[in-house]
Amino acid sequence: MLLPKRPKSSKLPYILCFLSIGCFVFVSLFSLKYYSYITLLTKPKTQLVNITCRQYIASDNRSFFERDYPQLNLPQQLSNFSYENSINQLRSFRLIVLSCARNIDRYIDNYRSHIEPILDLFHSSSSIHIFESDSKDKTAEKLRQWSRLHVYTHKKLINKYRDRTERLAYCRNTLLNKAHSLSPDYILFTDPDIFSADVSSFLSNFKYNQADWSVMAAGGRYGYYDIWALRTLSDSVMNYDVWHRVWNLSKSSENYCSKSISDQIIGIHGKHIPIEHGLVEVRSAFGGAALYKANSTYECQYDGKGPICEHVPFHLCIREKHNGRIFINPEFYID
Ligand SMILES: *[C@@H]1O[C@H](CO)[C@@H](O)[C@H](O)[C@H]1NC(C)=O
Ligand SMILES: *[C@@H]1O[C@H](CO)[C@@H](O)[C@H](O)[C@H]1NC(C)=O
Ligand SMILES: *[C@@H]1O[C@H](CO)[C@@H](O)[C@H](O)[C@H]1NC(C)=O
Ligand SMILES: *[C@@H]1O[C@H](CO)[C@@H](O)[C@H](O)[C@H]1NC(C)=O
Ligand SMILES: *[C@@H]1O[C@H](CO)[C@@H](O)[C@H](O)[C@H]1NC(C)=O
Repeated sequence: MLLPKRPKSSKLPYILCFLSIGCFVFVSLFSLKYYSYITLLTKPKTQLVNITCRQYIASDNRSFFERDYPQLNLPQQLSNFSYENSINQLRSFRLIVLSCARNIDRYIDNYRSHIEPILDLFHSSSSIHIFESDSKDKTAEKLRQWSRLHVYTHKKLINKYRDRTERLAYCRNTLLNKAHSLSPDYILFTDPDIFSADVSSFLSNFKYNQADWSVMAAGGRYGYYDIWALRTLSDSVMNYDVWHRVWNLSKSSENYCSKSISDQIIGIHGKHIPIEHGLVEVRSAFGGAALYKANSTYECQYDGKGPICEHVPFHLCIREKHNGRIFINPEFYID
């Protein structure tokens, strides 16, 4: 028996279904930080049909810190620095530790074992605050078992803020306001899934005259990874949003191979910064943790709309409003 012919309009649900699956995949990739896949997806025709794509080659392939740009009056190392002196001094300061958390249950024990000894260096009124949202694992339950911790949970922010950077900005601003209400001397923002700094690496921030810096951002032990949050002091070196640059180049008529674009725009800057290099002054950097002098953070807020890396507007404000100086400290490594 012949099946009745389907009316033409019945294709519509399939098309809509296909489109919404496509959309879902796109949005999920984006929210999962797999930006490089998006680059591939946004350029499927040329990537799949034209296998003769061209290699994109940056005119200078040195990492940002290897290039020459102004690094004047870097903070001086204290001649009388010692871990003992530093520890005695920190005891009178209040530190507020802040973190945003999502699906990190497997990292909590490690995080706790590294952050508590740092917290204990400071005055007993110091405290740690974590804002959790959108987790599908046991993050919230596990955080609640940590007695010393102040936990704020917000089941679902994803419906309100689609961009991950906007959710992070909301989280960071909420925590920052909380911290400000506690009149801290220092604020330490950390990414709990990667933070594992030991006490001596943290104390290296206090080797420098405290009047000379506002922010000390972490380096990495094996490589510098947080290129999106980075803005150098130079007008020509890495002073733009790297993902916007990648997207722009992918869309250009030059038919560049996607991998060569992300390697040359982002990959080349991921080199490890040797400790001997000393501080690198920047307009913005995060690197998984940053220590802020609390006074330099008032009236500044995070903003992830764009999407752009939410740290950048916050750091630019610290520079503008408070004449704050921001450094990457390669000795303050967190992984
Ligand atoms: C593939 O890319 C090359 C280099 O950009 C271009 O010259 C060529 O015309 C493209 N071929 C097709 C089929 O689009
Ligand atoms: C960087 O560029 C130089 C010459 O411009 C080249 O010899 C070298 O292989 C490049 N290094 C990398 C890692 O691409
Ligand atoms: C270390 O030197 C700085 C300035 O050079 C001074 O303010 C500070 O009190 C000294 N600290 C100690 C413990 O001597
Ligand atoms: C990307 O392209 C837009 C539109 O041409 C331009 O305004 C923007 O500055 C570019 N961004 C980067 C980082 O190259
Ligand atoms: C930071 O702010 C507090 C409170 O307003 C003030 O007492 C202190 O002197 C400030 N510290 C610095 C280094 O400006």
